[in-house]
Amino acid sequence: MEISALPQINNLDDLIGELYKVFDGDEVNVDFVNHLMSSYKSNPQDWKKFAKFDRYRYTRNLIDEGNGKFNLMLLCWGPSHTSTIHDHADAHCFMKLLAGSLQEVRFEWPVEEGNRTDRSEEDQDRLMVEIARGEMKVNDVCYINDSLGLHRVENPSHSESAVSLHLYCPPFSSCSIFDERTGKRSKCPVTFWSKFGERVELKKPKSCCD
Ligand SMILES: [Fe+2]
Repeated sequence: MEISALPQINNLDDLIGELYKVFDGDEVNVDFVNHLMSSYKSNPQDWKKFAKFDRYRYTRNLIDEGNGKFNLMLLCWGPSHTSTIHDHADAHCFMKLLAGSLQEVRFEWPVEEGNRTDRSEEDQDRLMVEIARGEMKVNDVCYINDSLGLHRVENPSHSESAVSLHLYCPPFSSCSIFDERTGKRSKCPVTFWSKFGERVELKKPKSCCD
C-alpha cells in the first residue's frame, strides 16, 4: 500500500473503523494491522471507560467484537501482575501498550526429552526454554502467533499500573497454559472482566490467558 493511501488514525474509534475494513476479508495482512495499531497514539480519554482493574490479577475487558472476525480488548495490569505462559489458539495476536510498561517473555513450545538435539547443553534439561525478552514502551506494538512460540506478559513495576490493547483474530474462548517448571500443558477458558464498559459477573473460574 502506498504511504499516501494510509488511513489517518486520530483516536480509538478511527482505529476500530479501520480494523473492521481490514478484517472484512479472509486474509490477515499482519504488517498492515501492525501499522494501524502503531498509528494510533494512546489517549486515555479514548479508553478509560474500559479500564477496570482488579487488585489481585490483571483483567480482560472487551471493547469490540469486530463482527465476529476479531476481538479487541483492554487488559489492565496492576503492579507486578503477570500472565501465565500461554499459546494463542491458532489466532493472530497483536498487542499495543497504552500506559505504563510491560515485559514480554517468549518461550519455545515444550519439546519431549530425546527430541532436544538442536539445543545447547545448558537447555537440554529445560522444559520451557526462553527465546526472547523485551520491554514494551507506550505505543509499542508486538505480534505473536503459535508458530512464533509461547509467551508470558508481566508488569515489571511494583508501583505503577499498565494498560494494553489486544486484538485477536479469530476470537477464541480457550487457550493452553504451560507450567514453567514442568512444561505441563492445560486448557484454560478465557473470560472477560467487563464487556463494553460494563462489569461481567462471573460464575466460572477466572481466565488465565491473554
Ligand atoms: Fe498472549
